[in-house]
Amino acid sequence: MQKPLINLHQRLHFLTKKHIFFALYLLLLLALIQLHHQHKKSLISHEVMRTKAEDGSAGRANMKCDFSIGKWIRNKAKPIYNGTSCGTIKEGQNCMANGRPDTGYLHWRWQPVGCDLHPFHPSLFLTLIQNKHLAFVGDSLARNQLESLMCLLSTVSQPELIYSSGDDNKFKRWAFPSYNATVSLFWSPLLVKHVEKEPSLGKNYNKLYMDSVDERWARELDEIDIVVFSAGHWFLLPAIYYDTAGGDVLGCHYCPEFNYTEIGFFDIFRKSLRIALNEVKRRRSRRRSSEKLVVLTTFSPAHFEGEWNKAGACSKMEPFKEGEKKMEYMDGEMRRIGVEEVRKGNDVEEEEEEVNGRVKYEVVDVTELALMRGDGHPGPYMNPFPYAQGYKERLQNDCVHWCLPGPIDAWNEILLEIIKSWK
Ligand SMILES: *[C@@H]1O[C@H](CO)[C@@H](O)[C@H](O)[C@H]1NC(C)=O
Ligand SMILES: *[C@@H]1O[C@H](CO)[C@@H](O)[C@H](O)[C@H]1NC(C)=O
Ligand SMILES: *[C@@H]1O[C@H](CO)[C@@H](O)[C@H](O)[C@H]1NC(C)=O
Repeated sequence: MQKPLINLHQRLHFLTKKHIFFALYLLLLLALIQLHHQHKKSLISHEVMRTKAEDGSAGRANMKCDFSIGKWIRNKAKPIYNGTSCGTIKEGQNCMANGRPDTGYLHWRWQPVGCDLHPFHPSLFLTLIQNKHLAFVGDSLARNQLESLMCLLSTVSQPELIYSSGDDNKFKRWAFPSYNATVSLFWSPLLVKHVEKEPSLGKNYNKLYMDSVDERWARELDEIDIVVFSAGHWFLLPAIYYDTAGGDVLGCHYCPEFNYTEIGFFDIFRKSLRIALNEVKRRRSRRRSSEKLVVLTTFSPAHFEGEWNKAGACSKMEPFKEGEKKMEYMDGEMRRIGVEEVRKGNDVEEEEEEVNGRVKYEVVDVTELALMRGDGHPGPYMNPFPYAQGYKERLQNDCVHWCLPGPIDAWNEILLEIIKSWK
């Protein structure tokens, strides 16, 4: 149960080497979480359900569907793209091309309670973002969702790559000329201003500056109409928190080599999210036409079982059945923080009389959908043909990101509904 997250963080950091340091840290972190919260668990899951019920009633009041509760049901239809038809799939998530033999995981659709989620409609999506710029901002799960969207959209319209920079293409931009639509990706795993750790250079901690946003995306806000934020996993990593760049240390997360106060990452995640969400509003222009939509994709749980580097770390071939998989405390908290901060964004907005440049906040609440899809990860098929030289007991597994095509396509079905009701 513990070790798997090591791999998660290796993946999220694009590291190739193992770091015993992280192994120890994560074991400790998880042990602490387990100890501290075991007794709270039943209370917590009630809390999650209660929050959900509130979300649900708010949704019904607006005659909107709550897509966050439901179940996966079998679906005969084939995904509208595959690993050969879509050219933008990152190698590590191209499960089909990497030789994943089973295909059952492709034949499920999400059935929300009380309404339907329509299959993705690429030309409708493109029409909705006509003359607009849609940006994904966040970590490798933001990129995973963006790549799913690009695959879905390229079934009807060829995108043109117009900008690409950073290793692993952390910053990218495409145009759909026939729709005058732009879709872009901004790497910003911690959302606020930060310096990423680089263990090879002896920098073992992320440094976060809690007074400002990451300008790499924020400076482009004027041009962006729809922002999808997706971040969370990087907040679990060892970090030092500063009030400002060059300012005082507020505390740290797992920094035994320093004499700083340990402060949990939940509050830091909340603050970072709040800073990012508010920044969109703070920088909106006052032009009448500049209404913006801000969407947060909620935390997507990992599914490691047993040891992360052992065959079968996430080898399920079907979704979990209803009630089979309980949400972990940490996953539920990360989700709840996201949902609450999005709601606060709208609460503040409603108090303002000025309607020009209105910013609407929405949530693509996927934590429950994702939780049930332990079958949707690349596992060993993050690498091409992992068993080509015969069966291996020890190998890398990715039980965090999602195969493309795969369950993450449903995140974009929900995103489509949200953009539709915004317009
Ligand atoms: C992948 O998609 C292409 C184009 O739609 C199709 O021709 C091909 O048969 C598909 N391959 C698989 C394995 O489904
Ligand atoms: C294309 O979209 C941009 C916004 O992304 C807009 O400023 C521009 O006016 C649009 N062009 C046309 C011809 O509509
Ligand atoms: C750590 O900080 C505390 C409180 O500021 C101080 O009392 C203590 O002496 C410090 N320890 C070390 C080893 O610097």
